[in-house]
Amino acid sequence: MSDTPTVSSTEAVWRTRAFAPAVGERLGPLDAVADGGAKEYIFGVGLNRFRMFLVRKGQRVFGYLNICPHYSLPLNHREDEFLTRDGDRIMCRQHLALFAIEDGRGLEGACDGRALDIIPVTVRDGELFIG
Ligand code: FES
Repeated sequence: MSDTPTVSSTEAVWRTRAFAPAVGERLGPLDAVADGGAKEYIFGVGLNRFRMFLVRKGQRVFGYLNICPHYSLPLNHREDEFLTRDGDRIMCRQHLALFAIEDGRGLEGACDGRALDIIPVTVRDGELFIG
């Protein structure tokens, strides 16, 4: 498996939130995220816990804060349920807004013109890291 570093963004809105992981923190193996799938990662406890999710496309991984820009709710109802049925877009299950996997921009629905908060993620030696 290639270990090409992949960074999805340098924006840092997420870093101001409670329980935000540190840059460089290890998330675990790349293979924990199915190719073409998504996985949630949670840091901390309680109502302010930090929730983020990753979407994987081959060796590319895209990270986002799990907060919808519409009503600031988590996107998913079920564990790791972040994508449309065909896996081509991110879908918020609250009111079905659609987002681009590659940059989190709103494509359709309640979040048209808005975007998910990007969390940069790097793949190194088959492992995922924040930053
Ligand atoms: S909270 Fe996500 S579309 Fe409304």
